[in-house]
Amino acid sequence: MPDSPQSLASSALRLAGLIAVVTGAAAGIGRACALAYASAGAKVVVSDIDRTGGEAAAGEIASAGGTARFVAADVGKSEECARLIADAASTYGRVDILHANAGIELCKSVWDTTDEDWHRVLGVNLGGAFFTAREAMRDMRSKGTKGSIILTASPHAFMTSREIAAYAASKGGQVALMRALALEGAPFGIRANAILPGAIETPMLHREAAFSPDPVEQLKRFAEAHPISRLGQPEDVAKVAVFLASDDASFVTGSCFAVDGGLMASVNSGPSISYTNG
Ligand SMILES: NC(=O)c1ccc[n+]([C@@H]2O[C@H](COP(=O)([O-])OP(=O)(O)OC[C@H]3O[C@@H](n4cnc5c(N)ncnc54)[C@H](O)[C@@H]3O)[C@@H](O)[C@H]2O)c1
Repeated sequence: MPDSPQSLASSALRLAGLIAVVTGAAAGIGRACALAYASAGAKVVVSDIDRTGGEAAAGEIASAGGTARFVAADVGKSEECARLIADAASTYGRVDILHANAGIELCKSVWDTTDEDWHRVLGVNLGGAFFTAREAMRDMRSKGTKGSIILTASPHAFMTSREIAAYAASKGGQVALMRALALEGAPFGIRANAILPGAIETPMLHREAAFSPDPVEQLKRFAEAHPISRLGQPEDVAKVAVFLASDDASFVTGSCFAVDGGLMASVNSGPSISYTNG
């Protein structure tokens, strides 16, 4: 049934009363998502290993009139993931939204990637998503919460480039994990989805560009690789995250959402080849 004008008005704060936990929320995409969840009415647990940035993000939410607290946690450690979810549940009563966003990138060839590199990247990106999701789902199931789990994955789950093998494998694993979470969560009303951001202007992207001799030119090249011909902003991702977290997405689970300016639609990851103009 279409929304009545009254229900449209009452859904203005789409996440009113919900409790959200966002990892990697001191900067970049996670920070923008934490702010957007709070603007949509959620109480937010901002989590990160970066205390200064995390406390600043939580402070920004509070000064705008929202509710947030910072909890330091390294998602590469399962016991810290458990502590994070337990903290959110004991402070606010339960967890409705888990956004497993914390991630690290490694730009190295297969042969230069050490055992330690591999375990670190897989441990934070894939392990962190699994351990936080497992703990959140335990809380959701035990309380009958119809929760939403969102993973920030990457187009590297489906298409990749040279010198990024461990990262690509971790992101492919996240998408497979998300599908498993969706299947096991569905009988309990718990949904799981993944966002695949294109090149988004965050500290991570700037660090990646800094590998190039000309970082400014490199950022321009990243932008031009997207058919929409610009870099994404963290807020582009946050708008989709709010949708996925909300009841508007109640029939959406097990899916990937590219927020990539058309990157994955293009056969050469760049401006489309014209077959009619040579
Ligand atoms: N920026 C992009 O272009 C882009 C594209 C596709 C996917 N992503 C993914 O989006 C997510 C966020 O990326 P971003 O660009 O905002 O990165 P970022 O580096 O700008 O921010 C990541 C945040 O995660 C935190 N973090 C790192 N390791 C952590 C750990 N072990 N435990 C807890 N927090 C930790 C950092 O302190 C930082 O605050 C990542 O999963 C990344 O792989 C980013």
